[in-house]
Amino acid sequence: MEPNNRYTTVAISLHWLIAILIVGMIFFGWQADDLREALFAGDPSIDPQQVAMLFNWHKTVGLLILVLSVVRLVWRLTHPAPPLPAGMARWEKFAATATHWAFYAVMIGMPLGGWVAASASGLPSYLLNMEALPIPSLVGESEALHAASGWAHSKGAWAILVLLGLHIIAALKHHFVDRDGVLSRMIIILRPRG
Ligand code: HEM
Repeated sequence: MEPNNRYTTVAISLHWLIAILIVGMIFFGWQADDLREALFAGDPSIDPQQVAMLFNWHKTVGLLILVLSVVRLVWRLTHPAPPLPAGMARWEKFAATATHWAFYAVMIGMPLGGWVAASASGLPSYLLNMEALPIPSLVGESEALHAASGWAHSKGAWAILVLLGLHIIAALKHHFVDRDGVLSRMIIILRPRG
């Protein structure tokens, strides 16, 4: 395969790092939210400090994802993706391009939505759970905005999972049905040698 048919090592590294962090964060977010609900419901076995600590780590990793996603978007805009296989149908090329840009939208929109929700809640947030590192507020305290952004943040997790499902099905189809080398452009060990 020609070098211009591969993603760069930077693009591949960012792809897998962000993918792992985002999938982990969805389950981490659900877990933290369940504990918070139990705390609000009066469960005496839940330690409020532990819930605050979990949310601070959720926010810290989420902001890391935001930074990595912006770097990835800038990299993508300055380093075009290798061309799609010539044999792909027009609708498939459209679906691939639409899915990829939708991913950029949620990779950046999801952490921003969470940041707005955290800010609007009026509660303090700390990077690395350290009081010396407060996370700045994007907006003032607002119950309505907290509810709206929290709702969007919660639905965003499902949007990511749907996109991810489509993305994985497409990748497996390219690899096992079309056998056109598309998956090997993003998995180093699958790269054809030579
Ligand atoms: C890609 C990054 C992120 C993912 C995948 C993610 C995922 C999630 C999920 C799945 C939940 C549980 C929602 C539910 O119960 O249905 C959640 C809750 C929450 N997340 Fe995130 N999150 C991300 C980034 C962030 C960031 C950067 C912040 C803040 C700086 C943040 C703040 C919050 C807050 C405050 C909640 C509770 C929302 C509420 O008060 O209703 N998240 N997150």
